[in-house]
Amino acid sequence: MRIPLIAGNWKMYKTQPEATRFVADFVPLIEDTAGVEVALCPPFTALAATRDALTGSGVALGAQDCFWLEEGAYTGQVSPKMLVDAGCNYVIIGHSERRGRFGKTPEDWTPEVCAMFADSDATVNRKAKAALAAGLTPIVCMGETLAERDRGEADAVVHRQAHWALGGLAARDVGALVIAYEPVWAIGTGRVCDAAEANRVIALIRSAVRETFGADAAAGIRIQYGGSVKPDNAAELLHMPDIDGALVGGASLKPADLAAIVAAAAGR
Ligand code: PGA
Repeated sequence: MRIPLIAGNWKMYKTQPEATRFVADFVPLIEDTAGVEVALCPPFTALAATRDALTGSGVALGAQDCFWLEEGAYTGQVSPKMLVDAGCNYVIIGHSERRGRFGKTPEDWTPEVCAMFADSDATVNRKAKAALAAGLTPIVCMGETLAERDRGEADAVVHRQAHWALGGLAARDVGALVIAYEPVWAIGTGRVCDAAEANRVIALIRSAVRETFGADAAAGIRIQYGGSVKPDNAAELLHMPDIDGALVGGASLKPADLAAIVAAAAGR
């Protein structure tokens, strides 16, 4: 039995006081909910404040990215060891917004500007391995763009991303990690993926895991859906047999919305 994980990805939102306030409002709303794991992933600058506010709540802490080395002359990078030190249990890796795979970018973002969002299948794999080695649970993101879907390439893209992301990992580590299937065209657009289609792609990812790492890893790995999950569509998605929770962006910024999504996961 896989326990669903609802993870709020705050992206580049919330200062420390805002994070503290969110937790004070949110935790009482989910106190009576059982059978769901909940995590909040604030920006690096609000990790400590969120951790302190979450003490004793049972809600886990996650970061939104990490580097693959422990320390070194890598200006601006944050290592998995530092995230453990900051109290994190989870780290999101390979989010499409880190891979430079946006649904839409501002017009003046030239290719040179976009090159700063440089995560690739190869760096995602390094980051996943480093996060696991440090004792973090990676939430590895993957998903196709609209152009790839329109060309009929969605399955192949996701299969490739899963293959690369997990390459070289031990089967027992794969069984313990989290994947988030996030079609790029559904992120921040309000255009959610049809629940049956999300379930189909997630089942495909699970069978790719089975092929390479065996039945136990496939049965254990939690695969979330992400992309415009809201209180009004959460139940349909979360009641699908292969969907093990959600990675929630926009709706995770409001305590009542995130609590409603947690409640939908509890009612599976
Ligand atoms: P969204 O973002 O819920 O705002 O679409 C999801 C995500 O990017 O993780």
